[in-house]
Amino acid sequence: MASSHNIFLGLFICVFMGQITIFTYAKVYVVYMGGNDGDDPDEILMKNHQMLVSVHSGSVEEAQASHLYSYKHGFRGFAARLTDDQALQISKMPEVVSVFENKRRSLHTTHSWDFIGLAGEETMEISGFSTKDQVNVIIGFIDTGIWPESASFSNTDMPPVPAGWRGKCQSGEAFNMTHCNRKLIGARYYLSGYEAEKQDKLEYNDDPKNKRSYRSARDSNGHGTHTASTAAGRYVMDMNYKGLAQGGARGGAPMARVAVYKTCWDSGCYDADILAAFDDAVRDGVHIVSLSLGLDSPQGDYFSDAISIGSFHAVSRGITVVSSVGNQGTTGSATNLAPWIITVAATSIDREFTANIQMGNGVNLQGESLSVLEMKAPARIISASIANGGYFTPYQSSYCLESSLNYTKTRGKVLLCRHAERSSESKVTKSQIVKAAGGVGMILVDEDVDVAIPFVIPAAIVGRKVGKRILSYINNTRNPASQIYSAQAVIGSQHAPRVASFSSKGPNGLSPDILKPDVAAPGLNILAAWSPAIGQKMKYNIMSGTSMACPHVTGIVALLKAVHPTWSPSAVKSAIMTTASIFDKSGKPMRVDPEGRRGNPFDYGSGFVDPTAALDPGLVYDVTPTDYKAFLCSTGYDEKLLHLVTRDNSTCKTQTFSTPSTLNYPSIVVPDLKSKFSVTRTLTFVGKPQKRTVYRAVVSPPRGVQVDIVPRRLVFDTYGQEMNFTATFKSSAPSQGYVFGYLQWKNGKSRVTTPLVVRTVPSDVGSGT
Ligand SMILES: *[C@@H]1O[C@H](CO)[C@@H](O)[C@H](O)[C@H]1NC(C)=O
Ligand SMILES: *[C@@H]1O[C@H](CO)[C@@H](O)[C@H](O)[C@H]1NC(C)=O
Ligand SMILES: *[C@@H]1O[C@H](CO)[C@@H](O)[C@H](O)[C@H]1NC(C)=O
Ligand SMILES: *[C@@H]1O[C@H](CO)[C@@H](O)[C@H](O)[C@H]1NC(C)=O
Ligand SMILES: *[C@@H]1O[C@H](CO)[C@@H](O)[C@H](O)[C@H]1NC(C)=O
Repeated sequence: MASSHNIFLGLFICVFMGQITIFTYAKVYVVYMGGNDGDDPDEILMKNHQMLVSVHSGSVEEAQASHLYSYKHGFRGFAARLTDDQALQISKMPEVVSVFENKRRSLHTTHSWDFIGLAGEETMEISGFSTKDQVNVIIGFIDTGIWPESASFSNTDMPPVPAGWRGKCQSGEAFNMTHCNRKLIGARYYLSGYEAEKQDKLEYNDDPKNKRSYRSARDSNGHGTHTASTAAGRYVMDMNYKGLAQGGARGGAPMARVAVYKTCWDSGCYDADILAAFDDAVRDGVHIVSLSLGLDSPQGDYFSDAISIGSFHAVSRGITVVSSVGNQGTTGSATNLAPWIITVAATSIDREFTANIQMGNGVNLQGESLSVLEMKAPARIISASIANGGYFTPYQSSYCLESSLNYTKTRGKVLLCRHAERSSESKVTKSQIVKAAGGVGMILVDEDVDVAIPFVIPAAIVGRKVGKRILSYINNTRNPASQIYSAQAVIGSQHAPRVASFSSKGPNGLSPDILKPDVAAPGLNILAAWSPAIGQKMKYNIMSGTSMACPHVTGIVALLKAVHPTWSPSAVKSAIMTTASIFDKSGKPMRVDPEGRRGNPFDYGSGFVDPTAALDPGLVYDVTPTDYKAFLCSTGYDEKLLHLVTRDNSTCKTQTFSTPSTLNYPSIVVPDLKSKFSVTRTLTFVGKPQKRTVYRAVVSPPRGVQVDIVPRRLVFDTYGQEMNFTATFKSSAPSQGYVFGYLQWKNGKSRVTTPLVVRTVPSDVGSGT
């Protein structure tokens, strides 16, 4: 919120510059006013307008000029240019939940479906289930838009657009009504929040060399086309990346409908635009919203966060929201933390892209690469540290930084370069620097060998161990040489899936009682459709990120909605979580790159998704919108805010959650176990109804914790029947940090698995809870 510090700074500049006009130090703010209980959109618009006029000293013109958006379908509020003082005034008005700055979000940047267990083309059926109703499922993508001509969005053989769809195909630059079809049924774009910031920031530079940007839903970035085709792309026979990974590929739900909401532009995605997209998507009638984007951690309060707000109101209306956990990779960096969102971590698949490196002494090595260039003959290999040029020290040059290499020393050679751990330096750029300095190849030494990089010269990434071996060879050889070959796709060379090193990890920094991420899905080196507007005009591209993992889960949600159209967002989420696996395909516990340590729920949530099992989960943990209210009360929201957000008569007094752990979540976290703590969960039977279906509890307790489940046996007779159980945690030994286990409800054919995460804290004065 506006701080008095900023206001004074504004006045100071005003006086200093000797201006006599009223100083307008305006920024874009989002004003969130809670739920929309069927209020008339025109009335909301008028009300917003009155609020703006009142803070603009009665000036209707100024009020109009400051207005960017009114949110009036999914929830209430508006976005406007305001001074800090005006923002402060508005935040005190009785109907306002929160006022926050228009923050910028970034994008969380085939064969993967075979790996998940959904092989076949579009006609593929999962035995026992018909997914043909996916033609009635509409997925909204909040992203960088779409390349409508891509074969992935062809509407051949698709039935007419579902009745009741209220979206539209908005015309804009290089995009009109004719670009939508029975596959791509809606396309809108949102510029106001982005352009307002562009004007504010004088340093913004419209570099003409930058890739082209379209003022329409057309994708000039590639990210939106990639995510939409991963979730719902049609079958394409000849999908490949520069000849690599050739074959047919499709999205998870190839017959589902696509609606795009373009909110992300060259410099990112702004809150005001994201909320406008949610507002429209709710009214248009989408069934799922997929967003592969988010803030860097730490995430703020739920109702000062555009994605939390938009998704809360979407989920309250039965729309499932799927998002990515983020690419920061470190402990506690997980984002998109709200319990009503499905938050997805990224794993590898069983395909790697590797290049062979032949050393002069006959030793053959392998590195990760997407470069299809190769050296025709061996060349001298040197450490980049001895190619230092200008004022650069050998140490600096060893990282192959811009201008750090001497042309005379580099020309015609293969350079061994280093990459700083977890740095954001571009690896492609390093290959450009070596190329510019006359190098013919590059071997990059990095902790993280996960992500295959499209280097501009023959090049590959090797781990630190291999890097040391190469350096020792260089040191001890008179004429060290090497030859780097073109990258190839290799299947099954390593254990898979593994959690990708960049995938952000728990614990949840906002609500430690809620496990995040929720599940893991493929996000490493994923081939999907692309925007040919950029660079090398490719139709397909390989990308890595939790951004790529998110649409894999979106596709699975679409299949679940096709088979179980009446399930709530939380039932769908529970089905995906409780059927996920914590083992890799060889049956060993899933590991985490780059160290290869054993994974835990902070890495992968409930585990790696299994769409076939998710269609028949047996039991689900369901959550009603009322439960989310109780959750919010238990985390400290007061009655006034609760009322505004939900627009009904619920009060925190009528909500009975003792702690946020009470939420009927498909995982259980006890972040501060003193001596004893109990939670109750409710399971709903969604299996094929038969006389008696018996489930038995099996517990693998976290180390040093005793877990008692009561009752240990649940008997269900009818579809939709609910049963409660209580899990009691007792600390039997003090623990250092978090410990992990799981609870499984088993019957003959299904297993319903719930991760258990506990941190014991010393019990101090009085009795523990
Ligand atoms: C829409 O775009 C197509 C292709 O760019 C063009 O041929 C057509 O004339 C446009 N239609 C309208 C109504 O502008
Ligand atoms: C590059 O290295 C060569 C050979 O050591 C040296 O003669 C030359 O001055 C260096 N050039 C620059 C720009 O440092
Ligand atoms: C190679 O030589 C450099 C200096 O010449 C030295 O710093 C490095 O430790 C040596 N590395 C190996 C693996 O021998
Ligand atoms: C809330 O309570 C008031 C007064 O008791 C009642 O008139 C109104 O219908 C209630 N609203 C809802 C949404 O239940
Ligand atoms: C389960 O527990 C809830 C409250 O925690 C209670 O309202 C409900 O009646 C219980 N259901 C059964 C089947 O016991």
